[in-house]
Amino acid sequence: MKVFVSGGLGFMGSDFVRFLIETQPKVEVLNYDKMTYAGNPANVAAVAKSPAYQFVKGDIANSADVERVFKRFKPESVVNFAAESHVDRSILDPGAFIKTDVEGTQVLLEAVRKFGISRYIQISTDEVYGSIKSGKFTEESPLKPNSLYSASKAGGDLMVRAYVNTYNVPAIITRSCNNFGSHQYPEKVIPLFITNLLEDKPVPLYGDGSNRREWIYVRDHSLAVWLVASKGTLGEIYNIGTGFERSNLELTKLMLKLLKEPSSMIERVKDRLGHDWRYALDTRKIRSLGFKPSVSFEEGLERTVQWYQENREWWQKIKSGSYRRYYRRNYGGK
Ligand code: NAD
Ligand code: TYD
Repeated sequence: MKVFVSGGLGFMGSDFVRFLIETQPKVEVLNYDKMTYAGNPANVAAVAKSPAYQFVKGDIANSADVERVFKRFKPESVVNFAAESHVDRSILDPGAFIKTDVEGTQVLLEAVRKFGISRYIQISTDEVYGSIKSGKFTEESPLKPNSLYSASKAGGDLMVRAYVNTYNVPAIITRSCNNFGSHQYPEKVIPLFITNLLEDKPVPLYGDGSNRREWIYVRDHSLAVWLVASKGTLGEIYNIGTGFERSNLELTKLMLKLLKEPSSMIERVKDRLGHDWRYALDTRKIRSLGFKPSVSFEEGLERTVQWYQENREWWQKIKSGSYRRYYRRNYGGK
């Protein structure tokens, strides 16, 4: 089966690509990625030489390029991981989010319709539902995005809904909680805090640290997406979650413990603008397809810490490049 994966050089897309190549002998992958700051060929180095893998550099918002690749590769399925994905960057520069997350999604859907592709999976986020004080979001919960990032992702989801309703495009949306694991760009809280601690730098905790997130180990996310791609019902939405919910302070303390660092390494910094307080997902639907997380939160975090300890070159290269400009803009200082 031929699978077109967009955004497959990023954190989650590259895990999905490695998962497919390493475990699904009948699958051929074409990885289509713009190679933004977040797209890193090193993330797929382990499978890049496989005859079942090929890469094309391209933008999902460029319809001529997308159609050229569809015409040649003839995918049966399309899985769209490509996005601008970081909330703090969306506060600094929203334009790129609308271009990729809304327009790019529409371009892919149009190509899926035109080429009669049999399955389209849109990788989305729990953040489109907004923030919830107690209880959990179901797939029926209204979309109330609060950040420029989540509003753009919700725009993409609404494009999927409209293409399903108008043209009967065979699409499914997945909405996952926060992912963590190897190869995550060190702008997100877990790899940022782990790598700062490995560099003996403080960790910048926003506000009072009471904000809460639900966490999934990235390989479990890939398993869930593959389950949806293989067994999900067209036109449906599937939340992907684990119930592993932690406050940012609890999460930070756990990372300090794993790295044997004192709590004085926590630096309280000013809160993120419009910071959502809590996300939590009702996951009965994905569990009814047979999904359950394969690792506990603690085990996943241990594996993640170990990966960053063993792959310093990977993140040191990132942190010494253009990343420093972003870091200064977001956090101030040197
Ligand atoms: P990432 O930022 O690590 O990777 C994004 C990838 O998309 C990069 O390889 C980048 O080069 C590529 N890309 C960006 N714009 C593109 C474009 N216009 N055309 C082609 N490629 C483009 O992101 P991630 O954390 O791996 O997230 C992947 C997807 O999962 C995103 O859609 C994100 O919204 C969603 N998601 C992320 C999380 C999370 O915790 N990180 C949780 C739920 C959902
Ligand atoms: P992040 O990893 O950016 O994911 P998201 O905002 O998409 O959930 O942030 C996770 C949580 O960690 C969020 O509540 C914000 C917080 N956070 C910090 O406290 N400090 C930081 O430097 C970052 C990047 C995030």
